[in-house]
Amino acid sequence: MPVTVVVGAQFGDEGKGKITDWLASRFRYVVRTGGGPNTGHTVHLAAGTAVLHQVSCGVLRPGVLGISGPGMVIDPFGYETELADLRNRHLLHGEPVLSERAHVLLPLHEIEDGWEESVRQGGSSSAGLGTTRRGIGPVYADRYGRWGLRIADLLRHEILASRLDLLYRKKAHLPGLPPIAELRSRLAEVGSRLAPYVRATEPILWGAIERSEPILLEGAQSVLLDIDFGTYPYVTSSHPTSAGALMGSGIPPQELDESVGVAKAYATRVGAGPFPTEVEGEMGEYLRKAGSERGATTGRPRRCGWLDLVMLRYATRLNGFTSLAITKVDVLGGLDEIPVCTQYVTPAGETLTDYPPPVAEDLAKVMPAYERFPSWPKFTERLKERLRREGAKALPAELRRFLTYLHEQTRVPVEFVSFGSAREDTLWMGRGAPSRMTDAVAPWSG
Ligand code: IMP
Repeated sequence: MPVTVVVGAQFGDEGKGKITDWLASRFRYVVRTGGGPNTGHTVHLAAGTAVLHQVSCGVLRPGVLGISGPGMVIDPFGYETELADLRNRHLLHGEPVLSERAHVLLPLHEIEDGWEESVRQGGSSSAGLGTTRRGIGPVYADRYGRWGLRIADLLRHEILASRLDLLYRKKAHLPGLPPIAELRSRLAEVGSRLAPYVRATEPILWGAIERSEPILLEGAQSVLLDIDFGTYPYVTSSHPTSAGALMGSGIPPQELDESVGVAKAYATRVGAGPFPTEVEGEMGEYLRKAGSERGATTGRPRRCGWLDLVMLRYATRLNGFTSLAITKVDVLGGLDEIPVCTQYVTPAGETLTDYPPPVAEDLAKVMPAYERFPSWPKFTERLKERLRREGAKALPAELRRFLTYLHEQTRVPVEFVSFGSAREDTLWMGRGAPSRMTDAVAPWSG
């Protein structure tokens, strides 16, 4: 029973941070398993808002180990700043831990990311990929090309010097690299400051499994940005799937018990790439405004659209979701109707229901077919208060029908509904919800 994973089921920014934070109080270990400073997990707390890029959400909870795991790519300077900021704002309650196997993201990776985007913009795609320009693609490329530096290397100065030297020789073509001697000494210094947090994290987790202590894997990015299963090449460079989370933590697959897929009641995407249910014009603007849809890392406006069941069914099969968390239902309250994409029609007239075309250019040409649902009422403060007080039974009937429909279409129960940004604006619907809609037993209590 011990391992639960939280996975983004769309293009990112579904509210994984909020669901992870909500669940974290029931876990002693929370582990980020991939990505790096491209992530921005936002958690609104009474004491202030935390936007976590590289530190796990677990550190917001007392008694929790917030592990940045081996599958991550860490900018050590950014990690240090993030910890200091959380500490200064009295938001750091758990224990931060940094994997010695995580790869080090260097300033030269950011330079390379910008350089690669400019090459792409001069080629076939004038928009490039729209990366976060944090160096993610280049640092993962170095990792797989076996050129990388890892966190453990920062603590071994001779090894650090030789790996950095090799990397500089490989990157000699890049403009504006910082002087190597200066970077080497800054890395050695940040390594000593971070040393108290650096641990072998896999044995910690294996020990937890042996003691039947529950572990929460905190997904970052999302399935449709997966390097293999996303909308390639408009993807990130890691594996934000449940399988990827196991690889990125060193936990054996058979230990995975729960896989929670997080999806908004609509959809958003930052950066370039196909987005079949995108809506532009007034309605797109409405969703962007009502949902405060701006990237947590780059501040870019997010593209907005409707919930896409072809993608959600695909995400469900890839990740073996055992439950769904549907977020931002409040944003759609009071609309005339709520469209949901049920299938795609290709230019050749073929109907697709659960497997998107693998070629981005083909995906960009499908026509989404919609079913339209009557909207639920506006989420007034009064309704929110009732939901906080009474739980799922105060949900508007139209919204219940919508959730039941998602359950039927994916065959996965909707177990969490989020209707606002605060911690208390998450409803746990009970196991097997929404058909039962009970909240009798604490989740994950075993
Ligand atoms: P990269 O991960 O910076 O290389 O960016 C590749 C693509 O993934 C771009 O479209 C980014 O906007 C998107 N992306 C990366 N991380 C996130 C995230 O945490 N949320 C949403 N989109 C992301």
